[in-house]
Amino acid sequence: MKIIITGALGHIGSRLIRDIPQFLCRYQFVLIDSLITERYSSLFQLPEDINYTFLHSDIFEIDYSDILKDTVAVIHLAAITDAERSVDREKEVNRINFNGTEIIARACAKNSVPFIMISTTSVYGSQKDKVDETCEKLYPQSPYASSKLNAELLLKQLSVEMGLKFVILRFGTIFGKSIGMRFHTAVNKFCWQATLKQPISVWETAYDQYRPYLDISDATTLIYYIIGKKLFNNETYNAVTTNATVRDIVNIVSNEMSDVKIEFVKSKIMNQLSYHVVAEKIQALGFKFEGDLAIGIKETLQQLQGISGKLPINIIVK
Ligand SMILES: NC(=O)c1ccc[n+]([C@@H]2O[C@H](COP(=O)([O-])OP(=O)(O)OC[C@H]3O[C@@H](n4cnc5c(N)ncnc54)[C@H](O)[C@@H]3O)[C@@H](O)[C@H]2O)c1
Repeated sequence: MKIIITGALGHIGSRLIRDIPQFLCRYQFVLIDSLITERYSSLFQLPEDINYTFLHSDIFEIDYSDILKDTVAVIHLAAITDAERSVDREKEVNRINFNGTEIIARACAKNSVPFIMISTTSVYGSQKDKVDETCEKLYPQSPYASSKLNAELLLKQLSVEMGLKFVILRFGTIFGKSIGMRFHTAVNKFCWQATLKQPISVWETAYDQYRPYLDISDATTLIYYIIGKKLFNNETYNAVTTNATVRDIVNIVSNEMSDVKIEFVKSKIMNQLSYHVVAEKIQALGFKFEGDLAIGIKETLQQLQGISGKLPINIIVK
């Protein structure tokens, strides 16, 4: 039996393929990635006791009818994920995040294979009140978030038309380390900037706004929890370790590093309001979020400590 993971070399995937729980160790893990982000290092020193097969391929190039035989679940991570830059590449973002999801989800439906879609809490957009999965008025603020929301709607349609079994996990912004980690999202970017002694760039409206965050170990544990419980019930679950403001994050970084400065910047996808996302639905089924934002930040800064400000002269890089 096998488990297929698309986008397996990414920020989340590179940790997911190492966090495999005991009860799944006998499965074959088929990893698909086009390497558009060139994270070859995600394949270095994989655990020896797991049976991995890597397919260096675009998700559009795979013959799914063949590969989906004897598959327990597809975990679909492959996507273009930089929300801010998605403004300038909407067409490509839609092609990969929406059309790419459609191809695999249709193949899963035809072959009766459950489909795990990783969506995002940014489908909520600006919200006055705390939101949970019952919230119907969604305001995605970027082409990235819209492409994810459209893909969610498509899965619901395919469940009616073709009997697709799926689960949608709306992840908060990931923090915490992985081999293939990226630094374009809030917490990691701030750690990177603080390490390089650059001012932390904060969107003008965002300093005291709440946003949802998810510890990477909660993210991987949750995905395998879903498989273990066979929770393919066509439901949507928020996945959030904590909600925090940028001020909270800057304070944590400042506790670890000296001379942290901030700079207010404009962004094309600045929200006007906070959004605070509740993840009680999955907790009611017994899942526990155990991550910790302060620990995640500390560990990320520790990863980078070898490059932190030990220059003999004061060089400022713009
Ligand atoms: N990182 C976060 O903060 C976050 C938050 C919420 C949701 N998510 C979702 O989780 C999933 C994984 O995110 P991530 O942070 O690991 O992203 P990532 O950008 O680090 O990794 C995505 C991976 O997909 C691969 N990929 C992209 N297009 C592909 C294609 N056409 N064919 C094959 N492979 C392709 C890339 O090479 C990359 O390795 C995404 O769907 C993302 O939307 C991420």
